[in-house]
Amino acid sequence: MTKEKAPKIIEFDQASVKIGRVKILHDISFYTREREILGVIGASGSGKTTCLRVMTAQLKPHKGSARIAGNDVKKEATAIHYATGYVPQHEGQSLYFPFSALENAHFFGRMYALEGKEIRRRAVEILDILGFDEDLMHKPVRLLSGGERKRVSICVGLIHQPPILLLDEPTTGLDAHLRHELLNYLKQLNFHFGTSMVLISHDLEVVEYCNRVVLLEKGTISLQGHPDELIQSLTGGGEAIEVTFDRLTEETLRQVEDMPFVETAIRSGRGSLKAFVEEPHKQIPDFLKALQELSLTPRELSVVEASFYDFFRTKSWTEFMEEEPSN
Ligand SMILES: Nc1ncnc2c1ncn2[C@@H]1O[C@H](COP(=O)(O)OP(=O)(O)OP(=O)(O)O)[C@@H](O)[C@H]1O
Ligand SMILES: [Mg+2]
Repeated sequence: MTKEKAPKIIEFDQASVKIGRVKILHDISFYTREREILGVIGASGSGKTTCLRVMTAQLKPHKGSARIAGNDVKKEATAIHYATGYVPQHEGQSLYFPFSALENAHFFGRMYALEGKEIRRRAVEILDILGFDEDLMHKPVRLLSGGERKRVSICVGLIHQPPILLLDEPTTGLDAHLRHELLNYLKQLNFHFGTSMVLISHDLEVVEYCNRVVLLEKGTISLQGHPDELIQSLTGGGEAIEVTFDRLTEETLRQVEDMPFVETAIRSGRGSLKAFVEEPHKQIPDFLKALQELSLTPRELSVVEASFYDFFRTKSWTEFMEEEPSN
């Protein structure tokens, strides 16, 4: 609750952005408050990186405004440079591979005119939270794994103690376990330093880690809010009937979806589906009766929570569904 009262640290107000003559972002408005983790989610080409480039003051809106840590991106680029740390999608863009994590931290820390001792203290503190031991801190980046390199890049992004950390696709290219590990590390940094974060992603998994979400679609915002609010806006208020069969065929799925009181049904596992109805608890008897009429015998049936994935699957955001299996 106290989070709701924190000042807005990033605020776009009807911002439109062009690159050359091409309009990329159209009239977008959103904000995030201090200490929050904001997820900017969208399919490839939806404008996520463009949005991030506005947050670093590399791009300026031709209409509307964007304020970062109280600074107008059109006028105060230097202040924004100090107020933000940037973690690019590819480590090659941000790290010197022959250098160790600590040497990279020193190199970039010097650019902010920080003293050697201060850089080391800060780098060790961050790397420690990121699970690096002494050995790993001294290893050349070229010998580190993908997940470890990403963490070095995060350390470099935080070296000048910016109030905001901007991360472009931080989980891309990592396996499922490492994606969650990385997101947990970010949560810990957010907690420890109070850093506000922006996670750019086409990966819906990150939403679980966000306090606020903005969904970009073709340069406009199609939805925004707290993840729970978005889930609660689903039919069923964030709950669904989950039913498991010995075998779930496409035909069964279609039959369930065709039940008059079922808004939509999606596969939720091997043999199981989730059916979205207005009042899941109340409608279990109707649901059972309808199954019986179709001669379908469920093995299990219960009311379960809907997840953010479900949210998109019921909204049939086709662009997303094409992207999702890639990592
Ligand atoms: N320099 C540029 N010149 C012209 N068009 C550009 C330029 N940079 C980006 N665009 C276009 O702007 C749109 C949004 O690009 P952006 O890089 O912001 O998307 P994205 O959401 O980050 O995509 P991805 O997930 O693939 O990284 C795309 O259609 C892209 O082709
Ligand atoms: Mg991008």
